[in-house]
Amino acid sequence: MGLRKDFLWGGATAANQCEGGYKEGGRGLANVDVVPAGKDRGAVITGKMKMFDFDEDHFYPALEAIDMYHRYKEDIALFGEMGFKTYRLSIAWTRIFPNGDEQEPNEAGLKFYEDLFKECHKYGIEPLVTITHFDCPMHLIKEYGGWRNRKMVGFYENLCNAIFTRYKGLVKYWLTFNEINMILHAPFMGAGLYFEEGENEEQVKFQSAHHELVASAIATRIAHEVDPENQVGCMLAAGNYYPYTCDPKDVFKAQEEDRENYFFIDVQSRGEYPAYALKKLEREGIEIQMEEGDKALLKENTVDFISFSYYASRVASADPAVNAKTEGNIFASVKNPYLEASEWGWQIDPLGLRITMNAMHDRYQKPLFIVENGLGAVDVPDEKGYVADDYRIAYMAAHIEAMKDAVNLDGVDLLGYTSWGCIDLVSAGTGEMKKRYGFIYVDRDDEGKGTLNRSKKKSFDWYKKVIASNGEDLSI
Ligand code: BG6
Repeated sequence: MGLRKDFLWGGATAANQCEGGYKEGGRGLANVDVVPAGKDRGAVITGKMKMFDFDEDHFYPALEAIDMYHRYKEDIALFGEMGFKTYRLSIAWTRIFPNGDEQEPNEAGLKFYEDLFKECHKYGIEPLVTITHFDCPMHLIKEYGGWRNRKMVGFYENLCNAIFTRYKGLVKYWLTFNEINMILHAPFMGAGLYFEEGENEEQVKFQSAHHELVASAIATRIAHEVDPENQVGCMLAAGNYYPYTCDPKDVFKAQEEDRENYFFIDVQSRGEYPAYALKKLEREGIEIQMEEGDKALLKENTVDFISFSYYASRVASADPAVNAKTEGNIFASVKNPYLEASEWGWQIDPLGLRITMNAMHDRYQKPLFIVENGLGAVDVPDEKGYVADDYRIAYMAAHIEAMKDAVNLDGVDLLGYTSWGCIDLVSAGTGEMKKRYGFIYVDRDDEGKGTLNRSKKKSFDWYKKVIASNGEDLSI
């Protein structure tokens, strides 16, 4: 009984939400840089409002973020102190290829991550690297239209060649696309898609998704060729749908909603478009342009493990009158009357994590990896600057307990757990700093003011104990 001995405990971040340093080392501009905080953010990330550059009326939180670009040594030392076995981070594409379509990579960018990975290894921390976490070079968006263009596959392939070769021996766990299903909900942030008026958005999204799926298979192939030790995972914004009632119509609706997410993982893990997806695309008049060899490529290069984020379960109802919405990872679902919610309306459901894990393990029979989970909350430091975040500890303890049940009682094969935002960072959904997830407090506010100093919250020592006991001791 218990988690595996080599269980990968750790934390997760994404380049655009923590690095800052957006012009350092020859870095180019990316979509994530020009996404503002505030009221227009939703329209920009969904591709409805064109924002291809900065203007004076908006604040762009990614430009400085928490300045991890200059402070990563201090931050990794703190992760080491907590006993992290792994640190999930993402590579900023535009540090390696500032425009995206160059032939040769940018040495300064390659060197930055090489140093960072070496710093991790000093503390026995295994990097877990997301190749793209919502970022896409702006040049590729302006010139090629982002992932709607098949040429993106080749640009992504160049990126993979550069990083797999350079980081051989330093990195062995890779994720191809963060929350690949987010392309359906936040397509500018997910895939650099901006829609012209009257365009068939679903057609564009699914064609772009096909390009990403092909790119993901190519990445998996190259990773295995470069180093057979490499382990490649897909990444889903997960959380199973519950039917709102036992009315079969609600049950069917929940199944349909789950399939919309499973679609991506079905392709990445089983290697082919599932029958239900082909039928749906046909019904909706969506035609996917495939190139010769795509089907074989997908079939022959399936992922080694399945990673996912889990914050909340979701609810589906066939009745349009049942429309009280709750928030969630960028997309909203029907409110579950049995659950409490966070300050941002994300419903809290630890058992839902076990349900989600079981559903995925039953479906794919591959190892799982929880690469995001956590509570976004307002933290109020006391007069000494200390945050006693018992609410965060309670959330995490309950989810880790449910995760252990999935392993110990249901037999799920689980590689690791990296909590989201192990250090406070910019929120992807809202652009706020005050939506904090970390064990480490960062002195910065929503307007970008603050010293950027780091300090340990109560959860820091708690998580250290959890890791040291391999998840046995969850007590406060
Ligand atoms: C996931 C993303 O959607 O959820 C992260 O992969 C994101 O980038 C996280 O930060 C939490 O969402 P939010 O909106 O609270 O930052």
